[in-house]
Amino acid sequence: MKIGLLHSLIRKDEKLIIEAINARPNLELTMIDDRKLTFQLGKDSFNFDVVLERSINHSRALHALKLFESAGIRCFNSSQIALVCGDKLLTSDALSRHGVPQPEVKIAFTETSALEAIEEMGYPVVLKPAVGSWGRLLSKVNDRDAAESILEHKTVLGTYHHSIFYIQKYIQKQSRDIRTFVVGDECIAAIYRTSEHWITNTARGGVATKCEITDEIRKISLKAAKAVGGGIVALDLFETDDGYLVNEVNYTMEFKNSIETTGVNIPVRIIDYVVDSTKGLA
Ligand SMILES: Nc1ncnc2c1ncn2[C@@H]1O[C@H](COP(=O)(O)OP(=O)(O)O)[C@@H](O)[C@H]1O
Ligand SMILES: [Mg+2]
Repeated sequence: MKIGLLHSLIRKDEKLIIEAINARPNLELTMIDDRKLTFQLGKDSFNFDVVLERSINHSRALHALKLFESAGIRCFNSSQIALVCGDKLLTSDALSRHGVPQPEVKIAFTETSALEAIEEMGYPVVLKPAVGSWGRLLSKVNDRDAAESILEHKTVLGTYHHSIFYIQKYIQKQSRDIRTFVVGDECIAAIYRTSEHWITNTARGGVATKCEITDEIRKISLKAAKAVGGGIVALDLFETDDGYLVNEVNYTMEFKNSIETTGVNIPVRIIDYVVDSTKGLA
């Protein structure tokens, strides 16, 4: 089988995926650099059977996946999963429709209605761009003064992505959250991400340690993954006195800090899944 690896920069994660592909003699790898890629609609034909998406840019990934699918190529993840997971509003909507517990969330479209929604929710709240990652441009809003200021800044200075207000209740964490990795029907690994900062992303200095996958962690992770369409996803969970909450679901999972920590060869599991899901193809 021929795998097209859709990528931007080749980070350590991509290197590990390439190694996992090359370790299997029956797989052939084609690199697809999204900076060089062009489509000619209706006339595209490609020399690979499936695409594994590893782009850094959500918009590029989403649209490339859609066009590969239109050309008849099976994609991991699908463009539908990318669409839902790449947008926190759509993720929250999917979680809500499937009864997956998440922090209280409100959506508003104007500065005035957003302020009202925040006041109704009660401080602190977290404002996030619907599309974004690595903990960037998140605001913990502790009082009305800060709310007014951040809403005004977003309105006056913000890009298109800030024109929808995604407002989430701040969840008091014990200096950590949980990142779980789901591949198909399995929750394969989990880590704690611990930080003195309220933003625990490892990209922002959060420290990864192993987390045992309890039945409860497995159950909520699989339910949330199913809610967004399945596939290969990484979830953020918050621990609360009333159980776990799903904060978000990522569709181009980063795992380089989690292989040694968990003892699970995540890139190999990803490739196993792609191969198993496409048995019979080519
Ligand atoms: N509502 C919240 N309550 C407490 N901490 C939060 C909340 N939202 C985000 N965080 C912290 O910020 C981190 C990044 O937020 P997240 O929504 O996952 O955005 P990103 O897509 O940038 O990772 C989370 O892992 C968590 O540590
Ligand atoms: Mg996150």
